[in-house]
Amino acid sequence: MALTGKCRFACLLWSLQILATQQRRPEDASSILQEKMVRAEACDLLHPLEGLKWTHSKKVGNNIVYSGNLTVPLSPHAEDKDDTPFLDLLVMLEVPPGASEPRLVHCGGPGSDATCVLGMSIQGYASFSISQRGIGVTANPNFECDPSHMKFPPKGQWNYEISDFTDCPCALPDGAPLVGQSFANLDPKNDCQVEVLFRSMALRSRTCAADSKWMLTGPRGKKYNFLEWSGTRMLAHENLDGASYGTAVAAVYANMFPDRVAKMVINGNMPPVPNTLEFAKGQGMALTQAFGHLERMCVKWTSTRPCDYFSNEMSLTKAWNALIGEIRAERLTAPTNLPGLGGNVSFPLSIGLLQGYVQELMIIAGFVPTGWAKPVLTLVNLAGMRGQSARVDQVAKILDRYCTLPTGYSGEWSGVKTWRDYGVCIGQQSVGLSSSEPDWRLEGLGVPLRRKGGDGFVNEGTVLGQDLFGRFTVAQAMGAYRAFRAEWEEMATSSFVGIFSAFFSWDAEAIPVQTGFRAGVRAFVVGNLYDPACSYTWSNHMRESLPNAVMMTWQGVGHCLMPGGNYQDSGMQPCLNRLDEYWKTGELPFDGFTCRTEAPVPLGNWSTETD
Ligand SMILES: *[C@@H]1O[C@H](CO)[C@@H](O)[C@H](O)[C@H]1NC(C)=O
Ligand SMILES: *[C@@H]1O[C@H](CO)[C@@H](O)[C@H](O)[C@H]1NC(C)=O
Ligand SMILES: *[C@@H]1O[C@H](CO)[C@@H](O)[C@H](O)[C@H]1NC(C)=O
Repeated sequence: MALTGKCRFACLLWSLQILATQQRRPEDASSILQEKMVRAEACDLLHPLEGLKWTHSKKVGNNIVYSGNLTVPLSPHAEDKDDTPFLDLLVMLEVPPGASEPRLVHCGGPGSDATCVLGMSIQGYASFSISQRGIGVTANPNFECDPSHMKFPPKGQWNYEISDFTDCPCALPDGAPLVGQSFANLDPKNDCQVEVLFRSMALRSRTCAADSKWMLTGPRGKKYNFLEWSGTRMLAHENLDGASYGTAVAAVYANMFPDRVAKMVINGNMPPVPNTLEFAKGQGMALTQAFGHLERMCVKWTSTRPCDYFSNEMSLTKAWNALIGEIRAERLTAPTNLPGLGGNVSFPLSIGLLQGYVQELMIIAGFVPTGWAKPVLTLVNLAGMRGQSARVDQVAKILDRYCTLPTGYSGEWSGVKTWRDYGVCIGQQSVGLSSSEPDWRLEGLGVPLRRKGGDGFVNEGTVLGQDLFGRFTVAQAMGAYRAFRAEWEEMATSSFVGIFSAFFSWDAEAIPVQTGFRAGVRAFVVGNLYDPACSYTWSNHMRESLPNAVMMTWQGVGHCLMPGGNYQDSGMQPCLNRLDEYWKTGELPFDGFTCRTEAPVPLGNWSTETD
C-alpha cells in the first residue's frame, strides 16, 4: 500500500488505488530466468510473453526495475486480426528481493502511467504497471495536446482568448471558463455562466473528436477511431497479455477474467454503474459529505487554531455563506501585473475555483497526517480574519494554482501566470496539456526523464467518455444541472458541473464498462466515510455489485485509505493491518469490518505563522 505521497494532486479524483494480482499459471511457476537476481517464481512476467518485450533494467536500492513495451492490437476482436493497427505501451516492473508473486498496480487518474510503479513495490510481490492507451509521455497517439500547439502571445492586447495560447483542437474553445476534473471557474448557481460552459464543452467535444490524429489505419487500409478503442475495457484486454489497471479497471478485469484474479484490493471506489449523469451527481455528493463533515467537526476544535476563529454564534457555515456573498460581489481580488488607473488592475476569485482548491486540500488528508487544518485556514484567510494582506495573498495563491500555463516545458509560455500577466484565467485544462516534471529515477530505462500530471482535462472526455453511457443536449444538461442545483449548495454543484461538462456530450460513442456485478470475485473493497473525491456511496455500490467481496470501512477523511493519512489516534491502524495481512496471507476480514476514529480529524494545531 505504498501509494502514499506518490499520488499526485493532479489525478486525485480518480486515484483509486487498484492493486490486482494475477494468478500464476502452474506451467510457468518453475520457469528459469536469465536474470539471476530474480527468484524464478517471480518470473512469469520476465518470461517473454507474446507481445511483451523487456528492453532495459537497472538496480534501484535492493530492487530491480525493468522497462519495456507491450505491443497490442488496437482491436482485440478476432474479426479484426488482419486489419488491426498495433500500439506500443510502456510497461514497468519493480522486483524486490525474494518476490514470488506478480502484482498489477494502477495509480488512477485517468492520467497516471506505468512510471508510477517506481517505489511502489511491497514485500513478496513483483509489482508492475502498464501505461494506459493514450496516456503518459511515451503514448502515441496521446490524448493530451502536444506542446508544439502552444503559443506565446505579445503582452498589451485589449483582451486574450484561449486561441492566443494554443491551436490544439482539444483545447477548450474561446470564452470557455477554466474547468477541471471536479470544479469550474464560475458561480455554480449562475444559470447563464453554466450554460456558456456547457455550450463550450459541447463544441470542444466535437472539434476534439474531429482531430485527424485519432484516425488510425491498419495494414489493409481499414480505419479505426482511437477514441473508441482506448477506454478502460481495452485496458482490461491488455491484461490478457499480462497487466492491469484502476478500481474500475480492476473490476472490469475481474468481470472479464474472473478466474485469473487471485487477490484484488479496490480502495476509494468508482461507481459500478457507468452512467454520465449518475457519475457527476455522485461526484457532487462526495463533496457535500466531506464539506459538511468539515463544518460539523470544526465545532470540536474551537479551542485550537484555526477553528478558534469561529465562535458558536459565528459558525463556519455562516462565515462560508458570507464569503460566498463577497465573492459574488467581486470583493475578493488580487492585484495583477497589469497597470490600471490608481494601481494595478485586480483579478477576482470565483466560487468554483475556491471549491476546487478546498476540495484538493481535503483530498490530501488521505496522504498526509495533517487532516483538514489547511482548508479551514484557507477559509479563515479569505474571510479576512487574519487581516487584509493574508486575504489578498490567499486569493493570489488560489489563482496561481489554476490560472497558470503548464509548467516544466522549455517554451517561454511554460509556467506563465495568465491572470497576472494577461488578465485572464487560462490554465492547463484550457490548453489541454498537463504540467510535466523531471524524474531522474527514469534514467537508463529507455524513456524520457520526465513524468506528466493528469490535469490537461482531455482524459476525462476521452476515457470516461468511452466508459460511461448517457449523452445529453445542452438543454437537457441544463435541466439536470438545475435539478441538482435546486437541492445542493455551491460546493457540490460546482463539482457536478465541472465533471459533467467533460462528457455529457462527448462526441465519440460509449463502449460502456461492466464494473462489478459478477459473482465469484473475492475482492477486498475499501472505503472512507468522507472521501471528498470518491464518494463512500460508490464504494458501497461496488461492494453490492460484487457478491463475494468483503467491505472494510474507515470512518475517516481523505482520498483512499493510505498509511500516510494516519494521524494520531486516527483509528485507521486496524484497517491497515487487515490490508497487510491480506497481501501476506490472502486472509480477508469479516464483511463490514469498520475502523472507528478515536480522535476527530485534525482541524487545528496548525502552524498558522508559516502558512
Ligand atoms: C517502445 O517502442 C517504441 C517504438 O514504438 C520505442 O521508441 C521505445 O524506445 C520503446 N520503449 C522501451 C522502453 O523499450
Ligand atoms: C503591479 O505590477 C507590476 C508590474 O507591472 C509589478 O511589478 C508589481 O508587483 C505589481 N503590484 C502588485 C501589488 O502586485
Ligand atoms: C501540535 O502538534 C505537534 C506535532 O505536530 C505536537 O508535538 C504537539 O503536542 C501538538 N500540540 C497540541 C496542543 O496538540
